[in-house]
Amino acid sequence: MTQEVIKIRGGQTLNGEVTISGAKNSAVAIIPATLLAQGQVKLDGLPQISDVETLVSLLEDLNIKTNLDGKRLDVDTTDIQNAPLPNNKVESLRASYYMMGAMLGRFKKCVIGLPGGCPLGPRPIDQHIKGFKALGAEIDESSETSMKIEAKELHGANIFLDMVSVGATINIMLAAVHAKGQTIIENAAKEPEVVDVANFLNSLGADVKDAGTSTLKINGVETLHGSEYQIIPDRIEAGTYMCIAAACGKEVTINNIVPKHVEALTVKLKELGVDIDINDDAEKATIRGHKDYKNVDIKTLVYPGFATDLQQPITPLLFMADGPSFVTETIYPARFKHVDELKNMGADIEADMSTGTATIKPSSLQGADVYASDLRAGACLIIAGLIAEGVTTIYKVKHIYRGYTDIVKHLKELGADIWTEQA
Ligand code: EPU
Repeated sequence: MTQEVIKIRGGQTLNGEVTISGAKNSAVAIIPATLLAQGQVKLDGLPQISDVETLVSLLEDLNIKTNLDGKRLDVDTTDIQNAPLPNNKVESLRASYYMMGAMLGRFKKCVIGLPGGCPLGPRPIDQHIKGFKALGAEIDESSETSMKIEAKELHGANIFLDMVSVGATINIMLAAVHAKGQTIIENAAKEPEVVDVANFLNSLGADVKDAGTSTLKINGVETLHGSEYQIIPDRIEAGTYMCIAAACGKEVTINNIVPKHVEALTVKLKELGVDIDINDDAEKATIRGHKDYKNVDIKTLVYPGFATDLQQPITPLLFMADGPSFVTETIYPARFKHVDELKNMGADIEADMSTGTATIKPSSLQGADVYASDLRAGACLIIAGLIAEGVTTIYKVKHIYRGYTDIVKHLKELGADIWTEQA
């Protein structure tokens, strides 16, 4: 069986501009949220990635009319029908769990397969379930492949999340928009994508307040209408290109970013010694890379801390530093599947998944055959390939296409020697 691989001949200097797409982790929640609207929704600024296509096809399984055209999606829920979604599409991505909250909100009932997603170690959804139950739902988990969620009536509730969870915050918000009375989510996630989903729901006529703080309030409303909505830029894609530019850019300008959303990364890159100009008004960053970086320590945290999704992409830069760097992963302690692949490229890196830590020492990388175990590991391997000597071949690139719009094309335009082949 053939599969597409990405090949990179490292050592080129990149120059030019790249424009960032809409945020994947907003889009994958807002697309399911459109089923709450009674009317037509027009979304703009969607990333062109396979996760978007999968979620649109799940909407179609509910007899919703859709028209996906590049960055734009039209959704018409006039003929919506509740249908079970226990299929392999649901399992192919993590964010399909947002269909649970949205369908529960709209129909008070859903039968849905269990979510998949990147293998980052255990990724339970107990906080989502706890929230649905607090709103009045009963959950039947007796099947090993699907879950039945049903409520006679959804009512507002006070829900304290045991840990800060982006997914649980958004999913509970989706289920609560039609609940009777007020729902308060305490210890809510403050990520920009949570705010984006709340803004989208409010554009439909929902009453969500204080998104972006740790106490989020939802006052239930009877109906939601259609709207037109523009998705925010992807801070993780932006951050990935910032790391790419620092690793091998002469002068690279990254357009369509919200500087505040990438602040933790910007500060860390400056600590490394990267030359960065941020233009807040023009929403762009210009980065001039070089080779004399200082070692830094990184600890991933919930927003506004350093994003776990950028822990893997920043790692290749740490090989270029003048001393050892120490990484602590507090969100997914097992998010180190890139480590063995980097070792194959000659990297001096050791990870301990029991403590969620890694030590990264200065290293010169050589091209090798490597496997993208997950989306951000794939981004890390692309950057490693760009700085390595010789040719790197990346297998399992479907993970990369789940989250990065046209990444091979963008890098080629910046001057990288990168191409795809069937292997
Ligand atoms: N957690 C639980 N129980 C729950 C929910 C979460 O124990 O019910 C734990 C998780 O296992 C994890 C922590 O809480 O240790 C945080 O998880 P969170 O729920 O915030 O993660 P998520 O919503 O499943 C989203 C992004 C991830 C990103 C994380 C953290 C989407 C679709 N995914 O996942 O993005 O890493 O938030 O910011 O929004 C990626 O884009 O590559 C990616 C993995």
